[in-house]
Amino acid sequence: MVVAIDGPGGVGKSTVSRGVASELGVAYLDTGSTYRAATLAVIRADVDPDDAGAVLDTVLGVDIDYDDRGVLLGGEPVAADVRSAEVTRDVSAVSAHPAVRAHIVGLQRSWVDRRDGKAVVEGRDIGTVVFPGATVKVFLTARAAVRALRRAGDAEAGGASVTDIERDLERRDTADSSRSASPMKAANDAVVIDTSDLSADEVIAEILALVEAARSDSEE
Ligand code: DC
Repeated sequence: MVVAIDGPGGVGKSTVSRGVASELGVAYLDTGSTYRAATLAVIRADVDPDDAGAVLDTVLGVDIDYDDRGVLLGGEPVAADVRSAEVTRDVSAVSAHPAVRAHIVGLQRSWVDRRDGKAVVEGRDIGTVVFPGATVKVFLTARAAVRALRRAGDAEAGGASVTDIERDLERRDTADSSRSASPMKAANDAVVIDTSDLSADEVIAEILALVEAARSDSEE
């Protein structure tokens, strides 16, 4: 059973996905962090993030994995490093290359396979491309100002102003939604939840109810 939770930055995806995974007692995978680890490898190798061939070679040459400590690059936990401003600046360019995506999507699928196909997976294209057969698909949204305020509280923001954060979120939304390789969009069968006026616990409860409904449907 895969629960796919997609949506742009600042909608509460990570908090909610972690909460749902812990309530269900299944693994949690933050796919954004796998693209961020690939981007960190590209930055460390001093490769131009727009150079598709060099980016692919770099990403194929490193080992990206994920465990309780978050994302790992060559076995090294890099969860904190991948939230840097440099990685955030370059991640949309790195993740726009189709061959890079194909490789990373392969890693994501085999990660979930190794957990008997049971996981809560958060990202941008989980319900549309990575797990189109997911049991439950959710697409989270929130008003731009709310998203910027939430991000301002994250370590990644590094004290940037809410206006700057809002501008950066908009820049990444445009890049992530307009790229030709699996753009961010809600799957046709995804349930869209606007989290602007909801607490994390309320969103988690809504998703758990969807999981329960899907389970009873499959038993009928
Ligand atoms: O969720 P995040 O902000 O950590 O994601 C970082 C970037 O990774 C995001 O700007 C686009 C990319 N991404 C993607 O292309 N596909 C995913 N499934 C997850 C993230």
